[in-house]
Amino acid sequence: MTTTLLERRFSTLGRHSPLFYDEPIHLVSGEGVWLTDADGRRYLDAYNNVPHVGHAHPRIVEALRAQAATLNIHTRYLDDRVVEYAEALLATFEPELDRVLLTNSGSEANDLALRIARQHTVARGVLVTDFSYHGNTTLLAELTTGLATREPLGEHVRTFAVPDLDAPENAEMSEQAILAAALERVDRALGELVASGHGVAAVLVESLFSTEGLPRVPDGFVAGVAERVRAAGGLVLADEVQAGLGRTGNWFWGYQRHGVLPDLVTLGKPLGNGHPLAGVVTTASLLEEFGSRNEYFNTFGGNPVSAAVGHEVLRVIDEEGLVARCARLGSQAREELGALVRNHERLGPVHGEGLFFGFPVFTDGTRTRPDPGTTKRLVEAVKSHGVLLSKIGPAASVLKIRPPLALEDEHLPVLLGALTDAIAETVDQ
Ligand SMILES: Cc1ncc(COP(=O)(O)O)c(C=O)c1O
Repeated sequence: MTTTLLERRFSTLGRHSPLFYDEPIHLVSGEGVWLTDADGRRYLDAYNNVPHVGHAHPRIVEALRAQAATLNIHTRYLDDRVVEYAEALLATFEPELDRVLLTNSGSEANDLALRIARQHTVARGVLVTDFSYHGNTTLLAELTTGLATREPLGEHVRTFAVPDLDAPENAEMSEQAILAAALERVDRALGELVASGHGVAAVLVESLFSTEGLPRVPDGFVAGVAERVRAAGGLVLADEVQAGLGRTGNWFWGYQRHGVLPDLVTLGKPLGNGHPLAGVVTTASLLEEFGSRNEYFNTFGGNPVSAAVGHEVLRVIDEEGLVARCARLGSQAREELGALVRNHERLGPVHGEGLFFGFPVFTDGTRTRPDPGTTKRLVEAVKSHGVLLSKIGPAASVLKIRPPLALEDEHLPVLLGALTDAIAETVDQ
């Protein structure tokens, strides 16, 4: 059955459309944090951040159904659903960030945010971290550093490394020295952009540095980057596609953890709980400047069905207290996971915030060489114990645990039990 479907997939979608696992899973349904495959096997979903409030949440399904049964149309007519959603979404931001443009994907949002920044600054240069992903448009392919792309890095792009206080090479250095060295590298990259004549339009950072492997950055790093970029005339773009909407627990938006107020914030993935909904949040003056010069139109972006779904997601997050629970469960999970990996010299320490965390896997107890092979086997073994998660980081050697915010207390032992067994079978062997 699965082989046949796999062959049909290859002969329609091609062989390069990514699939997880040595033996791909054929999922047929989801409910809350649980997924069921075609053989009736259930998995705890500790990977997917898009079904934020839970797979097939009845309130989201009903909001979608009710609006689809009433009206769905593009955004060139007045519609109270769309305006009400924009008001509710903007109420989650600081007062300065008071305008939103709705799109269908995170890629579109980042592409649009860069256009706004470039037009405002009359500069082309963009600064990104050296292992990151912000989307798949032509513009974004030229600044992708954390995923295979044929396009070379654009001449207008410079990268900088994200410091990790837990990295072996930083073991002998103070936090202050690590911070100073990291910001010096940012100064150099900015200097190069200016010298090249491209100037500085923006820095684009993902607040959790998830593709980078959730490094523990020094206090003041992101604020220091923002300050330097602004001094060079650029804008600060926070990519909240992964880190936003309460994922980090103690903050609704990931950039708030760093004490920075961005000029543009891009949103996606969890916004529509699986329905394609994304956007750019910015200031009234930046939107006014862009809007007065460009007729920006998006056929599907922010249609009434998407708005009804997005608004219901916000209501569910609020009424079910999901952000506070994410903070509490995330901290408990990281503590228990910390106790587990402390018993294994090749693992740890635990990185992350809220319900997005993981730990690196090394080849031996010196914890200097990443071990992608064992990490891959660990991910497969966890699956065989009924839990789905993945791996991240430049060496694909950091376990990636990022369950829906629908995760409840009773699910933690399932996750930790599967990890304990899988570690015994792979790391301890
Ligand atoms: C941080 C980040 N930004 C942007 C994107 C692109 O979003 P989309 O796939 O919705 O275009 C992704 C997708 O993985 C992402 O992780």
